[in-house]
Amino acid sequence: MAVISTCVMVWLVLTYAWAQPLPYQDPTQPLAARVADLLGRMTLAEKVGQMTQVNVTRLMGRGEWDRGPLNEYWLRRILIDNHVGSLLSGGGAAPVPNHPAAWAEFTNTLQRYALDSRLGIPLIYGTDAVHGHNNVVGATIYPHNIGLAAAWDPALVEEIAVRTARDVRATGIHWNFAPVADLGRDPRWGRFYETFGEDPLLASELVAASVRGLQAEGRIAATVKHFIGYGQASTGLDRAPTFIPPRTLRDTHLPPFAAGIQAGALTVMANSGSVNAVPVHASHYLLTEVLRGELGFTGVVVSDWNDIEKLVTVHRVAATFADAVAMSINAGVDMYMVPHDADSFTRTLIELVEDGVVTEARIDEAVTRILTLKMTLGLFEDPFTTAAEATGIVEVDRDLARRAAAASITLLENDGTLPLESPATILVMGPAAADLAMQMGGWTIGWQGIESRAEMPPGVTVVQGLQASAAEGVTVKHLQDTRDTAAVRAAADEADVVVVVLGEAPYAEGYGDSTSLALPAEQLTLVRTAAASGTPVVVVLFAGRPLVFPEDFWQAANAVVMAYLPGSEGGTAVADVLYGTHNPAGRLPFAWPRSVGQLPLTYDALPGPQTPEPLLPFGHGLSYTRFTLGRVEAELTSGAIALHFEVANTGERSGSKVVPVFLERPPLPVMAPVRQLVGFTRVTLNPGERQRLTINIPLKRLSVVLGDVLSDTAPTVLPGVYTLHVEGVGVRVTVP
Ligand code: GLC
Repeated sequence: MAVISTCVMVWLVLTYAWAQPLPYQDPTQPLAARVADLLGRMTLAEKVGQMTQVNVTRLMGRGEWDRGPLNEYWLRRILIDNHVGSLLSGGGAAPVPNHPAAWAEFTNTLQRYALDSRLGIPLIYGTDAVHGHNNVVGATIYPHNIGLAAAWDPALVEEIAVRTARDVRATGIHWNFAPVADLGRDPRWGRFYETFGEDPLLASELVAASVRGLQAEGRIAATVKHFIGYGQASTGLDRAPTFIPPRTLRDTHLPPFAAGIQAGALTVMANSGSVNAVPVHASHYLLTEVLRGELGFTGVVVSDWNDIEKLVTVHRVAATFADAVAMSINAGVDMYMVPHDADSFTRTLIELVEDGVVTEARIDEAVTRILTLKMTLGLFEDPFTTAAEATGIVEVDRDLARRAAAASITLLENDGTLPLESPATILVMGPAAADLAMQMGGWTIGWQGIESRAEMPPGVTVVQGLQASAAEGVTVKHLQDTRDTAAVRAAADEADVVVVVLGEAPYAEGYGDSTSLALPAEQLTLVRTAAASGTPVVVVLFAGRPLVFPEDFWQAANAVVMAYLPGSEGGTAVADVLYGTHNPAGRLPFAWPRSVGQLPLTYDALPGPQTPEPLLPFGHGLSYTRFTLGRVEAELTSGAIALHFEVANTGERSGSKVVPVFLERPPLPVMAPVRQLVGFTRVTLNPGERQRLTINIPLKRLSVVLGDVLSDTAPTVLPGVYTLHVEGVGVRVTVP
């Protein structure tokens, strides 16, 4: 009897113990303890698998880029045999069909497969939702960052990011490779539109806002990318070698990354390019000493696309793939976006550890960060989504899309033609007048933008927007075929105003590099033909950067509106601005060059014998109303300068006003920009209304990096008399 009761007792104890979650599976345990417990149970192969990220088309089993059903053989080879812990949908890598519910079912299938592994570690799935959840048909496509930068509105960027994060997580994706924290220092770059413009402070505020919004609900990770110096290529072209003095690296390129990390960014993506002849993916100085030692980053560093292999094939700093893997992992890359050949990476890294070239301690450090990321996002407890959630959440937020597009639109030139005062007939023409692909730009459904009418996201074109919002008695005519100049001229003759919508065909990355910044000649011909009729001409531009036009273009147009790449509701927002429903307040987040020969041309140039004058300055933007500035007072507080001033709307229309503050430093031991943005605010006022505003400027924004040519000391604030310029009014402040 005693034996039976003992066996029963043992059985009960074993059953109880078996039913208990292991420490790493127990959400009541401290996160660090859970990670340590799980790490201690993992084989080297399982650890290396966590450091591997594969593009999801690889699991569809046909060509590396073909989309289609998941392939059982490749599911097993990648997720089970190679223990791969992360997948991504690179631009355009969508399930078929491409709609929210299909995404949810797709990612759930992948997750179930991963959870079926020995330790049941969930996948972390990444994608580039860089202007809304842009891979998904049916999601809101917001303005690209360059347009959002023109709104100078961190709260708007944060609101869009919160909304985007919900869409991303609802489709079973946990990691957004956004925001770009690179600066747009040269518009020849095909990624200029992915940046928040050329200025470190404006970009810093908007990067931080984006990170806060994306991570606000704790369900996805943001990524500040591409660390560092990507936007300053020596030739202006994508991934070209970059040479950045330590001083410039510190005072110009670091701030947006520092801001994103201070805002809590959980991940950083490394820059594919090189800085001062060192590929960033092989730079321990940048990826460890600066990023972790100085900026205090503790999260995951993920490589960019195939960039370890490119140490061999592009940068030629490694003779073999094994050398490249050792260089990059030891420099500080925690996860490799392979993105196809998982076998060779996992096998190579395991061999490097077995040979002692990469220590297991380094592997454990990387895997600890990756497991911490997964647990922070709750993936062990909440790895799935539902098709119903995806369908219920992912839909076009037309109001937010419209507000964002309208806030970005920048009125460059206006002889009074705008806002349109109920013209009887509006003629609309131009390649972008009814083209959502040009309106949305790259990274939209396809990597290079919308590529197929079969997967066309919902959106409102300019033609549709003008027609939908037309006042009683206004006729909007769309001339689609403009090849016949005589027909164009005849149509313009009959109209009261001609709206010509021009633009760039969509592009992404290097495919968008341009050494001319010019639009096709036939687009300019349209403007000239319309202008020759004597009918007022309004030009609307859909572009990811400033464009270079011949002098007569600007003379031919009565008004020019820069709409950037405004997204789903771009047509509605353009109509709002042209009809005057929305008073434009956008201000250029970059200097607009007269010619390519002036490049690189940024407003924060150092003093010199001759500073090229841009065609339109950084911060340029017109309004339909007038604002005046009252007396500006400066008050030195502890650690900051408080600027007090009053703004009044002295016009007849309500409107918003962005007020930037530029710094003029006294002579210092090192050269510094003649003027530098150190603060900004925005205010909305009705006609006749006035408001007292204060902008607080932390003294650290007055700092410079002292020292000789190669100095990379920490920025220092020196005493002296500084001048702050607000809308042309200068006020002096003595800093002790
Ligand atoms: C691309 C881009 C990077 C993106 C990644 C995944 O090449 O450089 O911004 O996040 O691949 O799509």
